Amino acid sequence: MAARKIIIDTDPGQDDAFALLFALGSPAELDVIGITTVGGNVPLALTSRNALQIVELAGRSDIPVYAGCPGPMVKKLKTAEYVHGPTGIDGLEAPDPVTPLQPQHAVNYLVDKIMAEPEGDLTVCTLGPMTNLGMAMAMEPRIIPRIREVVLMGGGFFQGGNATPAAEFNIFVDPHAAHVVFESGVPLTMASIDCTYTAQMTPEWINTLRAVGTRSAVQAANMADFFRRYGSHKFPTEARPIHDACVTGFLLAPHLFQQRLCNVSIELMSPETIGMTVVDWWHVTGRRKNCNVLGRIDSDGFFALMLERLSTLP
Ligand code: BDR
Ligand code: CA
Repeated sequence: MAARKIIIDTDPGQDDAFALLFALGSPAELDVIGITTVGGNVPLALTSRNALQIVELAGRSDIPVYAGCPGPMVKKLKTAEYVHGPTGIDGLEAPDPVTPLQPQHAVNYLVDKIMAEPEGDLTVCTLGPMTNLGMAMAMEPRIIPRIREVVLMGGGFFQGGNATPAAEFNIFVDPHAAHVVFESGVPLTMASIDCTYTAQMTPEWINTLRAVGTRSAVQAANMADFFRRYGSHKFPTEARPIHDACVTGFLLAPHLFQQRLCNVSIELMSPETIGMTVVDWWHVTGRRKNCNVLGRIDSDGFFALMLERLSTLP
């Protein structure tokens, strides 16, 4: 079977870097045809640079990287250096990227590429605020029925939020863009924090990854060590979620994830809860079930697969 064509929209972020490396290490299943960047964890200039550094680390500078929107549709950008460090991918020791960004804007690229590919072929993965995809849908709604599926990291339900009590970071940063995408009718799969918290990366797993000895494995382990410093106030052990990598894990091995089709809408009105993903778990609204909500992950299966795939990179 041909590899599934995906565009990854991202704001690296160490966990974004893991999602990218996991995908790049899985070429038989995933054909990463382009990467688009957005302002999120850190400003756009850094997320773009970071994406280039990651593709070069993986020896895949043939994959075009397009810079997109520097900030959300309506709100002001909120970044997360307190989690990721000032560069966004602290821990990585790699040379400056030599590959240039593509000249085209990411939103124009999304529109052109989705229109050009056969209908239903292309999957779009969003690992940051959904600004680029929301803008593309607003600009050219004919892309919506052409997309096979949008797989996103974002949101929360029983866990609430991690940016506010109600909202997860990616949705909180640009709830209006998320609203456009969630109301568009496109098939959606959501890896919320309820899902990502169930697969936590342990220090032992990171050491096993480092022991692979390749530059990608060593640098991924370095990023993971930095990333897991955050969260000691929340998690009882040294293990930490690696959120965005769950998107790649789902594309490769959906059987590792519990799944439930629900209606999900985005709260936009209340200052207390803006950016909350309102998941109609019991279908009390009767509204269309627009989203495949991912739940518990088979963590052992997930980390075994990620280790296997990261180990194939240079
Ligand atoms: C999400 O927010 C970012 O900090 C991470 O990269 C991830 O996409 C987790 O809430
Ligand atoms: Ca991210």
